[in-house]
Amino acid sequence: MKKKYYITTPIYYPSAKPHMGHAYSSISTDFIARYRRLEGFDVEFVTGTDEHGQKIQKSEKKKNLPPLDFCNKISKVFLDLGKVLNLSNTDFIRTTENRHYKTVQKLWKILEEKKFIYLSKYSGWYSISDEAFYSESEIIDKENIKLCEATGSIVEWVEEESYFFKLSEFQDILIKHYEDNPDFIQPASRRNEVISFVKDGLKDLSISRNSFKWGIPVPNSKDHIIYVWLDALANYLTASNYDEENSFWPADVHVIGKDILRFHAVYWPAFLFAANIPLPKKIFAHGWILSGDEKMSKSKGNILDPIEIIEQFGLDEIRYYLMKEVMYGLDGKINTDNLKNCINSDLANNIGNLSQRIFVLINKHFDCNVPDPKILSEQDNNLINFPIENLKKTMSNFEIHNYIREIIAYSSRINKFVNDEEPWSKVKNSDPRVGAILYISLNALKNIFILLHPVMPSKAEHYLSCLNIDKNNISLELINQNLSVGAELKMPGIMFKKYI
Ligand code: MSP
Repeated sequence: MKKKYYITTPIYYPSAKPHMGHAYSSISTDFIARYRRLEGFDVEFVTGTDEHGQKIQKSEKKKNLPPLDFCNKISKVFLDLGKVLNLSNTDFIRTTENRHYKTVQKLWKILEEKKFIYLSKYSGWYSISDEAFYSESEIIDKENIKLCEATGSIVEWVEEESYFFKLSEFQDILIKHYEDNPDFIQPASRRNEVISFVKDGLKDLSISRNSFKWGIPVPNSKDHIIYVWLDALANYLTASNYDEENSFWPADVHVIGKDILRFHAVYWPAFLFAANIPLPKKIFAHGWILSGDEKMSKSKGNILDPIEIIEQFGLDEIRYYLMKEVMYGLDGKINTDNLKNCINSDLANNIGNLSQRIFVLINKHFDCNVPDPKILSEQDNNLINFPIENLKKTMSNFEIHNYIREIIAYSSRINKFVNDEEPWSKVKNSDPRVGAILYISLNALKNIFILLHPVMPSKAEHYLSCLNIDKNNISLELINQNLSVGAELKMPGIMFKKYI
């Protein structure tokens, strides 16, 4: 039986249309999911929408629609974007679904039975935009407006009866968990941030609201709904059928943006410890996609529409650009000039050109069949054999950008080899070495496209189908298994367009 792997994206607020930052979160998660499939895992990959809370209720009012109608509309936009992005998710969860109500209410009851919940009164700052409670020390005053310093979002003073979760009891348990599991939060810089936040002391957390109704009701309470983050985090349990046999829970990794680390690395493990449910193995916080020097976000009005860019440059090209140029874990600026440079230099001039040169010769001189190399030297074999162990190491640290860089470096080596060997001259003299040069390059291209499958699934599937590799058989096992001599090939055509 295949080993299981469970990976999740954050679930998105359907309060506004998705932008490039959301697309980035999803594409990078898809990359990891697809890579694990190449390694042979049975991957459950969950994404979806986070539909309750004041933020949604407020935006719903703007459009004069009842909350659920509004959510149905925008949740579908996220669902459709997933198709445009060619995500390989196995589930799309909406927190307004019945299956999720059941999980959240059950989790609440467990926490209540275990005496981690009590009724009191909350008075403090709340940001609707972040759906987060902030302490006085996190607030600044800017021209008489109170803002959360870290996120820049407006906060308001809230005083209401609320149920509390005894978060303060989990400080030592959490610190011990971070120390015993150094890879629980990645990258390491984020881990240090979380540890210092927890070491500063944890206060009990308000986990219900009673001033509006759009949420999952607290069991046996007329007035309270469950805090939207407790509701949202539990989606990871719902989607994995966590309490059933053969469930995918615990998650191997929750991929999130760095702005929502506190919820995932502090509150979420504390809830799970309290409920005696196993913890996810890892939280990976990626950086932000910046527009200029600022986070891309609707409130800043600096968003790039993924659909428009994809229409202009192609999906696989955009996926490639984002995954290679933004170092995974750090912020990254994106713009169309860099995008064009990246497509031209890596895709069109490097991989595309290599493929084009090789296939023209194979077609003309070998009837479009895999050439016979006759003799291969040790050096030749070293060129074909891709150093897969290095790549595996980069992926165990989630260094997606380095994974891609290794592949490009390999493609450059093969291009240099072809330049040095000049098969186009040798063919004129019927030099028997031509078969070997083309055979080496062709097998290298096979390796390149297998390894690029997580980042450019459609292009890779097309290319590999021309080499008689079916999309369902693409796997790391085929790396360094050479193509059969004499097998008939199809011309892949021009793979990448150049931009001026
Ligand atoms: N609903 C919560 C998540 C709940 S998960 C249990 C939420 N939603 S969100 O729609 O605001 O953000 C979803 C994800 O998109 C977050 O991981 C966030 O970091 C990411 N991004 C939003 N803007 C972004 C960029 N400009 N760049 C990269 N990712 C960003 O938070």
